[in-house]
Amino acid sequence: MKVLVIGNGGREHALCWKLKNDSRTPEIFCAPGNAGTAQLGTNIPLSATDVAGIVNWAKINRPDLTVVGPEAPLCAGLADSLEAEGFRVFGPCQAAAKLEGSKKFAKEIMQAAGVPTAACEVFTDADAACACVRERGAPIVIKADGLAAGKGVTVAETVEQAEAAIKDALGGAFGDAGSRVVIEDFLVGEEASILALIDGEHVVMLASSQDHKRVFDGDLGPNTGGMGAYSPAPIATDAVLEKVRTEVYGRTLAELKKRGITYKGVLYAGLMIDNGQPSVVEFNCRFGDPETQAVLARWDGDILPAFEACIDGTLSEELISWKPEPSVCVVMAAGGYPGDYVKGDEISGLDEAGKHAVVFHAGTVLKNGKVVTAGGRVLGVTGIGQDLRTAVDNAYAAVKKISWNGAFYRKDIAHRELKRNSLPALVEKI
Ligand code: AMP
Ligand code: GLY
Repeated sequence: MKVLVIGNGGREHALCWKLKNDSRTPEIFCAPGNAGTAQLGTNIPLSATDVAGIVNWAKINRPDLTVVGPEAPLCAGLADSLEAEGFRVFGPCQAAAKLEGSKKFAKEIMQAAGVPTAACEVFTDADAACACVRERGAPIVIKADGLAAGKGVTVAETVEQAEAAIKDALGGAFGDAGSRVVIEDFLVGEEASILALIDGEHVVMLASSQDHKRVFDGDLGPNTGGMGAYSPAPIATDAVLEKVRTEVYGRTLAELKKRGITYKGVLYAGLMIDNGQPSVVEFNCRFGDPETQAVLARWDGDILPAFEACIDGTLSEELISWKPEPSVCVVMAAGGYPGDYVKGDEISGLDEAGKHAVVFHAGTVLKNGKVVTAGGRVLGVTGIGQDLRTAVDNAYAAVKKISWNGAFYRKDIAHRELKRNSLPALVEKI
């Protein structure tokens, strides 16, 4: 069996790793992949957004399944193009991927469906948007409508910050993605990520997780793509999950259906949970990164049957089970991230680290037989353990073995849950 995975991040290495360990041991191809996916299969030098190139490759190499990792190719219609040629694809069609591709669209669906989410207004004119902000007051959240690689959201603490964010976005800082802005109320609470597999009809929620968006310990500094995650996230209690099932997934899918849109693949709900009530902060049409590394580390058994069931419309809870052990993914990043950073630094200690945890590669490439940095988020070091403390310790024991010039990472991944359990939350300086 041949499986093609699209993308080159930590999420894609985790997907390749899980797929490779399936009892059918498929042959793995990854476009374009990284130094980690190269160890599991064959990297193909095609960009994830090269829809024509990927379809062409598929026609020649006939993959039995294609799993699309990132949002950009999904929003560009890669799943539609491959399906039109008769290929089996895990990932939503372009119309469904718009839930991530346009925040305005996602909000329209949620409002029409009665999904709990922050109230919002949408603007293309900076003066009108600034007037809205002055009227609503701060804190307030400004979001570029389109895909902005995780950089399009400003949580403004003052009206001045909000106005600056509006002028940035509408002034072209995010290109077309920012030609419209969504202004929404600031939500209080604690965040959790719930991912669900969907086959067009049935929804199976995956194990909960919690990301750490800010770059520095103590949730300080600018937002990033995510500096670490753990699973499960006990803040997502059974009662919360039941609300997510009915009020978020149930209502959203019903509204999409009304509009003739079928959702197949994974739908990620970024939630703010306040007093047991979840509200949707964002939808993503794909697996989260680094949530996937933590969640897939706990997936018990084969993943291929679940992906195939999403395509065939035969998804059921029985296809998915979880290891009870918690997992923790610590992201190691290049100095300067999420701003400018250097690439091409040689990474050492990967083999030693692998004795304690699974080291998922993100921004890495092979150069003259050596693994070197090639992105901002470089590795997702993922530990598992009988309890959260042990999982954290295993992840950091591995992190300690790895080095390159300028490497940094947060030392407090899983701090909220550790504190709730009265455990020290900051791993000592290592
Ligand atoms: P997003 O890209 O929409 O997930 O936003 C990035 C981050 O900004 C989220 O993970 C939250 O931490 C924060 N955020 C987004 N929207 C809101 C909101 N309405 N209220 C509070 N925080 C938010
Ligand atoms: N970790 C956040 C995301 O994948 O969007």
